[in-house]
Amino acid sequence: MHSARILIYESACSDMAEELIRISNLSVEARSQKENIKAVNSVSLNVLKGEVVGLIGESGSGKTTLIRSILDLHERNVEIVQGEVFFKNELYLDQSKNINNLASLRGKHVGMVFQSPKASLNPLMTIGALLDEVLRMHGVLNSKADRKLISIELLNEMGLDGSRVYRSYQHQLSGGMCQRAAIALAIATKPELIIADECTSALDVTTQAEVVLTLKKLKNEHATTMIFVTHDILLASDLCDRLIVMQSGNVVEVGETKEILKNPQMPYTKSLIASVPRWK
Ligand SMILES: Nc1ncnc2c1ncn2[C@@H]1O[C@H](COP(=O)(O)OP(=O)(O)OP(=O)(O)O)[C@@H](O)[C@H]1O
Ligand SMILES: [Mg+2]
Repeated sequence: MHSARILIYESACSDMAEELIRISNLSVEARSQKENIKAVNSVSLNVLKGEVVGLIGESGSGKTTLIRSILDLHERNVEIVQGEVFFKNELYLDQSKNINNLASLRGKHVGMVFQSPKASLNPLMTIGALLDEVLRMHGVLNSKADRKLISIELLNEMGLDGSRVYRSYQHQLSGGMCQRAAIALAIATKPELIIADECTSALDVTTQAEVVLTLKKLKNEHATTMIFVTHDILLASDLCDRLIVMQSGNVVEVGETKEILKNPQMPYTKSLIASVPRWK
């Protein structure tokens, strides 16, 4: 039943809108001395331009491994053993890793926001220096003064006091401020795709709400394409056009968010929905 839904949905979408990214038949193994784990098992999926896709699934189902594969950000014991990643129909990555254009995908075309905001900001550099480095590396603006102006503007847009945060180190900021600074860094080069891996789960409820507002702003005002990894079905229902559910390394359910909420197929999805009191 659920596999039929996956096929119908993919073919319907590809006729309507431009496909930004396609992951094709991807398998990833995590190796340890004891065993090899199939962390991702022949997964295929696509994300359309302007779409916000929620990637959900129980802990250990392979969500992080899957999205890290897009930028080849794996640890040394984790390896892509099969499959391809296409960005705008161009092959960027396969298991041979001999394709040279991956570097341009990182930062320039795809921005990533991680779970722990502090871990993604170098503690030895101010937020301003980090933003300046990213903008300079990607040749966005030539003069340092222009880069500073644009950085402060970007931080203001994230709901921060841009001038203050520009001069600050991460230890001088709260968790929510750090996460919004990390989002500013991820979007500084105007990437076409933002991947956020549980970027709100380390934050308290109020701060979470602020970060979600920031993401909604990106969606509504800039039509940013996003892959949003989360355990929070309420948040996913609020933000995502489509949901992809993973279990044991496999994609087990795909569909428009409202369809999945109305008629979930998989036990995990059902239990997530049942756990929200007002939906019971
Ligand atoms: N570096 C690694 N070394 C060994 N095993 C790994 C490594 N990275 C991932 N795995 C294994 O791969 C599987 C998928 O892990 P992954 O982190 O992708 O899950 P996840 O869905 O992101 O979980 P969570 O919701 O807890 O973040 C798990 O069994 C995990 O133990
Ligand atoms: Mg994870």
